[in-house]
Amino acid sequence: MQIGQKIIHLESVDSTNNYVANLIQRKEITHGTVIMADEQFAGKGQRGAEWHVNPGKNLTFSFLLENINLSISQQFFLTQVVSLSLVNLLKKLKLTAQIKWPNDIYINRNKIAGVLIENQVANGMVNKSIIGIGLNVNQQSFEGFNATSLTLELGQSFPLQEVLFSFIHSFNEQWLAFNNQTKQVVINEYLSHLLNYQKIAKYMDKAGEFNGKITGVTEAGQLQVLKENQVNHYDIKGIKFIL
Ligand code: BTN
Repeated sequence: MQIGQKIIHLESVDSTNNYVANLIQRKEITHGTVIMADEQFAGKGQRGAEWHVNPGKNLTFSFLLENINLSISQQFFLTQVVSLSLVNLLKKLKLTAQIKWPNDIYINRNKIAGVLIENQVANGMVNKSIIGIGLNVNQQSFEGFNATSLTLELGQSFPLQEVLFSFIHSFNEQWLAFNNQTKQVVINEYLSHLLNYQKIAKYMDKAGEFNGKITGVTEAGQLQVLKENQVNHYDIKGIKFIL
């Protein structure tokens, strides 16, 4: 179930996630194929946002997972494995990163990577999963955003292909390590890297701003936050971090 046996490098594309989806429709892609692009002119972020980065400076890529035997209720497993793969890749570069729930990767309150997972489901199972990743590598300024890059953190530039190979290696390692583990083992590993875990911090939900404490995540991926002596469960649209 490894990824990365085949890598397709594009100069420019709307979105590498869309490119994978189109190849799926045309039945021209198999499990593990990675599509990377120097430039995306309609890169997609979470919650319908756009993903803008300087062309040629950063990693923007997607890959396809097929036949992974995960039920819809277990799809958060993918979020955890991908997030932990990124954290581990950064750890190998001596950088300590944290996961801002559900799958943004931060270093010292600045975002270094984002993940967009688009699942195709059938009969209660995740049939195919398109995993899209934007990892800031060589970009040196991010006007108006709390963002960072490998270059800003480490003071040197990195060949994009090499960083991609490191990610592929890290993902394959995590997938192997976690696939036969109980869900709780994986959740515990995820929690150990979760931003604000067990700390009081500011959030916003539909009732307004509040001070709360993240106490866990459910198997289905909801965030558990202690608010006024009660643990609330949130999905992605239900809570905003005030950083
Ligand atoms: C986010 O943090 O909002 C998620 C960003 C995900 C961006 C990546 S870049 C490669 C892939 N293709 C896309 O269109 N989006 C993802």
